[in-house]
Amino acid sequence: MTNGAEGTAPVAEPKGSIPTQVLELHDVTVDYGPVRAVEGFTGWVGNGEVVALLGSNGSGKSTILKAVSGLLPLTEGRIAFCGHWIQGMKPARVVRLGLVQIPQGRMVFPDQTVEANMFLGGHSRGRAGKAVRDDIEELFERFPRLADRRRQLAGTLSGGEQQMLAIARGLMARPRMLMLDEPSLGLAPIIQQQLFETLGSLASLGLGILVIEQLAHLALSIADRGYVLDRGRLVAWGTPDELRSSGKLVEAYLGSGEAAGRGSG
Ligand SMILES: Nc1ncnc2c1ncn2[C@@H]1O[C@H](COP(=O)(O)OP(=O)(O)O)[C@@H](O)[C@H]1O
Ligand SMILES: [Mg+2]
Repeated sequence: MTNGAEGTAPVAEPKGSIPTQVLELHDVTVDYGPVRAVEGFTGWVGNGEVVALLGSNGSGKSTILKAVSGLLPLTEGRIAFCGHWIQGMKPARVVRLGLVQIPQGRMVFPDQTVEANMFLGGHSRGRAGKAVRDDIEELFERFPRLADRRRQLAGTLSGGEQQMLAIARGLMARPRMLMLDEPSLGLAPIIQQQLFETLGSLASLGLGILVIEQLAHLALSIADRGYVLDRGRLVAWGTPDELRSSGKLVEAYLGSGEAAGRGSG
């Protein structure tokens, strides 16, 4: 246990019944029928914070993101986003509140141009043409590689560019928080690094970011805090330094991603 007493779940601060963080999960338990995937998870993401969700395969990370997005029902617990209790809410409503999950596997529309993909992203909050176009231009300034390829079909972009496009498209919804499930998967190490630097710069604009990552060292290079899961339970949490300084933890949960050496193109 990196922070707090052994066996004690972290409590969102300040304590109390009124949610104050961008995202708060309180004692969240999720089951797939008879299979308990997540048990009693408590954690939070603050304004402008990058928070990494770490842990080996099958530890419950994706389940947590799906529960937050409204794609899975909670067995127990509560989730607050920007002062609203969102457990049981439909996914589309969660998006409208400003919580956007970037789809896994960079689900861009391959037969549409980069620009058209961005335009489609602007519709999720029902905004009008001119405002959407202004947002696209603003994002092209932030992502110059996408600007250079604005008329190119999204399916012809490199893996890294498609991931950037998926993020830019998500930002078109003007979210207050982004969630990403293993965005570095299949990308070359240098592109993975750039991707995480981009996430860091988005957080510095005030966006909350919750990111699942197998490569713990990569996520911890930019994260403000991390939570480590093991078989559905929170086993450690804290700042990158706190997590890395626990030798046992590094060996058990944080080393595998690096050793596995995923990522090629
Ligand atoms: N649709 C499902 N039906 C039944 N069990 C599932 C389903 N999805 C995930 N699980 C189980 O829930 C646990 C957590 O899975 P998941 O959240 O995908 O883990 P992670 O993202 O950390 O790899 C695993 O034991 C997995 O087998
Ligand atoms: Mg997963």
